Amino acid sequence: MILTEIFKKALDGGYAIGQFNVSNLEQIRAICEVAKALQSPLILGTSEGERKFIGLKQITAIAKVWQEETGLPIIVNADHSRSFETAKTAYDAGYTGIHFDGSEFPYEENLKITKRVVEYVKSKNPDVIVEGELGRVRGSSEVHNEAIVLRESDFTDPDLAMQFIKESGVDSLAISYGNIHGVFGVSHSPRVTLGELHGEEVPKDGPWKTEKLDIERLKDIREKAGAFLVLHGGSGISAIDVKESIKNGIVKVNINTELRVAYVNTLREFLNKSEETTPYKIWPAVIEAVKKVVEEKMRLFGSINKI
Ligand code: G3H
Ligand code: ZN
Repeated sequence: MILTEIFKKALDGGYAIGQFNVSNLEQIRAICEVAKALQSPLILGTSEGERKFIGLKQITAIAKVWQEETGLPIIVNADHSRSFETAKTAYDAGYTGIHFDGSEFPYEENLKITKRVVEYVKSKNPDVIVEGELGRVRGSSEVHNEAIVLRESDFTDPDLAMQFIKESGVDSLAISYGNIHGVFGVSHSPRVTLGELHGEEVPKDGPWKTEKLDIERLKDIREKAGAFLVLHGGSGISAIDVKESIKNGIVKVNINTELRVAYVNTLREFLNKSEETTPYKIWPAVIEAVKKVVEEKMRLFGSINKI
């Protein structure tokens, strides 16, 4: 099944599909095994750094094997491609989803490159989905120990989103409405300052506000935009906000940091108390920890038994 059909089904059914970011075999195994057990559609994502590490042809080949073995449709998405060239290279290596992120370019430049990516991909295979990005999703997929300040200008403008989708021809759009990449450290509760948005003083070292999505803005975008909508920075967002987002048209939620944290914490703990030297005896504990996060997210997104 192609991704637009998967998204259409999700939108009609009021659920979302998880995109889980990976860069190695253990993570892929964890995600595919959970998806198989729960009969959930899934998307594997790789940023430019992640795909450089695992190999572009390698990951598309590995996904194909898991697809055959599980009988699930497995999409491999080129997450946050920052240039036409990296998007093209991913398509040419067999990726079945291409995300071009031109959000750091001025609007016209973002539109121009996104359009070029759409034209290239669609001329080769109209079934491969292209995701654009408008508005700035701050932060990267790590544990932050400082507040992140959101500016009004970071948020996706609903009218501009409508225009961008029409002119670029993207199938889906990543939007910014209070979401950031990563989670917040220390207490591990997600915190973000909305700063200028509400005309508040930005506290230098807390207390920080809990991350809060602007659902009204999402509704406005949904009404105007004729494309599937994507929530980036899915780690650390409250279950209530995720559910509200899905209710209001989000069909894909990207998760990376929470998987990374589960992976690294478990590995660290295991190695701290074990002399084990056989890799395949080390990884099961790590895989189990990643599986737990994936299962929790698939249940939250409502994507189980949707094959
Ligand atoms: O593109 C990847 C995601 O947006 C991941 O965000 O690290 O906050 O889960 P996250
Ligand atoms: Zn992202």
